[in-house]
Amino acid sequence: MKWLVLLGLVAFSECIFKVPLRRLKTMRKTLSGNNMLNNVLKEYPYRLPQISFRDSNVTILPLRNMKDIFYVGNITIGTPPPEFQVVFDSTSSDLWVPSIFWNSSTCSTLVRFKHRQSSTFRTTNKTFWITYGAGTMKGVVAHDTVRIGDLVSIDQPFGLSMAEYGFMDRRFDGILGLNYPRQSCSKTKWIFDKLKSQGAISEPVFAFYLSKDEQEGSVVMFGGVDHTYYKGELNSLPLVKADDWSIHVDRISMRREVIACSDGCDALLDTGASFIHGPGRLIDDIQKLIGSEQRDFKHYISCSAVNTLPSIIFTINGINYPVPAQAYILKGSTGHCYTAFRAKRVRTSTESWVLGDVFLRLYFSVFDRGNDRIGLAPAM
Ligand SMILES: *[C@@H]1O[C@H](CO)[C@@H](O)[C@H](O)[C@H]1NC(C)=O
Ligand SMILES: *[C@@H]1O[C@H](CO)[C@@H](O)[C@H](O)[C@H]1NC(C)=O
Ligand SMILES: *[C@@H]1O[C@H](CO)[C@@H](O)[C@H](O)[C@H]1NC(C)=O
Ligand SMILES: *[C@@H]1O[C@H](CO)[C@@H](O)[C@H](O)[C@H]1NC(C)=O
Repeated sequence: MKWLVLLGLVAFSECIFKVPLRRLKTMRKTLSGNNMLNNVLKEYPYRLPQISFRDSNVTILPLRNMKDIFYVGNITIGTPPPEFQVVFDSTSSDLWVPSIFWNSSTCSTLVRFKHRQSSTFRTTNKTFWITYGAGTMKGVVAHDTVRIGDLVSIDQPFGLSMAEYGFMDRRFDGILGLNYPRQSCSKTKWIFDKLKSQGAISEPVFAFYLSKDEQEGSVVMFGGVDHTYYKGELNSLPLVKADDWSIHVDRISMRREVIACSDGCDALLDTGASFIHGPGRLIDDIQKLIGSEQRDFKHYISCSAVNTLPSIIFTINGINYPVPAQAYILKGSTGHCYTAFRAKRVRTSTESWVLGDVFLRLYFSVFDRGNDRIGLAPAM
């Protein structure tokens, strides 16, 4: 309790994320399209350059698909280790879980960290706050042993949240950020780099396979790439800057016509976003082209449109990455269908997009920190 009292004395360091960490208001389901993968493969041309990885020790952690809206995996913190369900988020860089000092009706269903029960726990006076698209957390930096599968990071800094706002319908305890350390709000040693420097992972890469429809089958892997999760070759895409998982997109097209990103644009690969987000005006254009109808915050469309609408193609580094209608039209729990395109709430001076789970279910993604690049290949 001592460290909590000190909290009032220190200013919170400010930190805001521009990109959405999904909205969790309603639960949805993608249309199961048997042809989806076939269509993707047909439209997908294989080209150089490609990435290959040495055979190394890969840690594969299962993720649970929460209705195609987000994916969670288990980690443990402390000695003895309680288990936390976290979202592995490629756009933020902090790890945090709820503390027992955060006391509200929201947190009664969550696992909270009981610091007094851990023999390896130590705290600091450092506080910070993070605003995601979906909510805000305020917390204090602590240290303890963190385990992700068989990976162990000793004396790992992490956040303990003292207060949270937003995060509607939350089904995860905390967030484990996998973006570059520069994006860290708590300005602590990034877990991924710490695992690397402690020799826990052989190669500084991690990769995601996100299943469609099924609750099981999704994984995040560390230290290498398991080739059985994708088809063909991994294409190598350079990052815009080596401090964020953003890549350059040549254009976005539909029926051979450019519909957005006409002068090129950037796209952030976001494992913590459910949909595809873009500038409002361009998203409106796409909704019109598709023929969707806006009600409240969603753009609805007839479910049968999946059979007739063409793929929307993201051309990246000269290679086409089609997103077929079966992927960008989703079915809600009420049986209505709606599109997976969303306007970004924050404007940027240059055109930028966020490619979330809708895109990442189609393409197995490798985040290669060692070479500052992304690898993409059609998912199995
Ligand atoms: C994989 O792990 C084993 C045992 O921990 C070790 O002997 C081997 O060198 C590791 N291989 C690589 C490529 O890191
Ligand atoms: C996480 O742990 C809980 C409780 O042990 C278990 O029910 C759940 O299946 C685990 N989730 C994953 C993705 O392994
Ligand atoms: C949390 O709230 C419950 C019920 O409102 C109360 O009984 C409990 O003492 C509170 N715990 C703390 C640590 O404030
Ligand atoms: C917190 O700050 C106080 C005053 O600066 C200092 O005396 C104390 O040792 C610090 N505690 C920790 C755990 O860093």
